[in-house]
Amino acid sequence: MKESLIISPSILSADFSDIRNEIEEISSSGLDYVHLDVMDGMFVPNITFGPKFISDLRSKTDLVFDAHLMIESPERYIHDFASAGCDIITVHAEATKHLDRAINMIKEEGKSAGVSINPATSLSEIEEILPSVDYVLVMSVNPGFGGQKFISYIPDKIKRLSEMRADSGYSFLINVDGGVNLSTIELLKDTGLDMVVTGSAFFNAPDKEIFVHTLMEKFFN
Ligand code: DX5
Ligand code: ZN
Repeated sequence: MKESLIISPSILSADFSDIRNEIEEISSSGLDYVHLDVMDGMFVPNITFGPKFISDLRSKTDLVFDAHLMIESPERYIHDFASAGCDIITVHAEATKHLDRAINMIKEEGKSAGVSINPATSLSEIEEILPSVDYVLVMSVNPGFGGQKFISYIPDKIKRLSEMRADSGYSFLINVDGGVNLSTIELLKDTGLDMVVTGSAFFNAPDKEIFVHTLMEKFFN
């Protein structure tokens, strides 16, 4: 059994008018990562924020910046997000015609590279890039909004991905994004998962420290 689970809260469900305090709540609940959902209104039907917002946040916190780019042709903006201070940059396989180029651009910027796939995208779409990535972000909702329902076939997909990793000796971490809460975390046990994104469940929790503790406990026990 693994010894730790990385929890990366998504600020999509935070109050943007009070973002410094919201970010501070992530650190004070003992977590090290923050998930930054960048949406362009094209790849997904919603728009959030861009490099300027991330760069402004960068000077306010030491959290690891885990940027999830839900934007068309993300290679156009990789340099900007890297310069803004993102530590991990994840692009969608469905959003680029040149996934290998996009992943290499992230690495050339000296950042950790992630690839994400939508719920209905097959693992075979990313098979060739797996040796080159640091993270695989498996979407467990259709991207675009926080607070959606976890899709039930995803735990099996994660198990198959961790089998592929073990069979080939790859070292990427597996992350899941969408609808993760204190109930659905139970479905993710024993799948080989290393990391979870949690947006609405984290920011709506009355006591975030207790939420984090309970999530961990449910995952490991
Ligand atoms: C969805 C985003 C997620 C989302 C997660 O497009 O990528 O990161 O904010 O939010 P919850 O945990 O509420 O599903
Ligand atoms: Zn996300």
